[in-house]
Amino acid sequence: MHRTRLHGKTPDGAPGAITHAFAYELFSAVTFTGRRSRIWGRLVELADVAAGDEVLDVGCGPGFLTALAARAASPGGRALGVDVSEPMVAQAQRTRASAGCSFQLGKAEALDLADASFDVVLSSLAVHHIPVAARAAAFAEMFRVLRPGGRVLIADFLPPRGRLARHLVGTVAGETMRDNPVERIAPMLGDAGFAVRSTTKVSWFLHCVRADKPGGTG
Ligand SMILES: C[S@@+](CC[C@H](N)C(=O)[O-])C[C@H]1O[C@@H](n2cnc3c(N)ncnc32)[C@H](O)[C@@H]1O
Repeated sequence: MHRTRLHGKTPDGAPGAITHAFAYELFSAVTFTGRRSRIWGRLVELADVAAGDEVLDVGCGPGFLTALAARAASPGGRALGVDVSEPMVAQAQRTRASAGCSFQLGKAEALDLADASFDVVLSSLAVHHIPVAARAAAFAEMFRVLRPGGRVLIADFLPPRGRLARHLVGTVAGETMRDNPVERIAPMLGDAGFAVRSTTKVSWFLHCVRADKPGGTG
């Protein structure tokens, strides 16, 4: 069992899980007040989510992005959020589940989902939570579950600048936050087989990479 001040006690085998689900929801709503819909909505736009798409949100937390994606995929599509934390999945189910929006427990690096079953994979603020040694497996899983021609969009915090900032962030949020790999996301997506299309600074704190799985008819 690990514990950090911000994220709570984490189960064995999932050191990056956030178990303070309600506190995280509150923290995120307050920190990003008024900007949450605009910034996370921009991620949905950058991934070109359209009506009829089947969308997977990896490390969905309380499901804010999943719900926005479900709305963009409607009518005819759906969004599924997976997270390794039971309290997060419960919070998402309680507050954001709907006919086209569902949630289940799952590990990014070992998804219990069929090959080629999604058009879009999204992931926001979650990669830095996945243990470093499991990140390549997580990108390989995203590749596996996408249909040929499918899109992936990974967004993560820009890393804290300087040793002191990294130390403070690590003390509050735990070791995983210290190794925040935004500059490694694009090369890792390339290693998993994706063609990287663009990198975008969505706001002062958020960077995202859009990539496509080769193939398809588009
Ligand atoms: C900072 S939150 C981001 C939540 C949400 N995507 C957002 O943008 O607000 C990171 C989430 O990743 C989840 N997580 C950590 N390790 C994971 C793993 N190996 N597989 C799936 N989810 C994971 C945590 O439980 C947490 O809910």
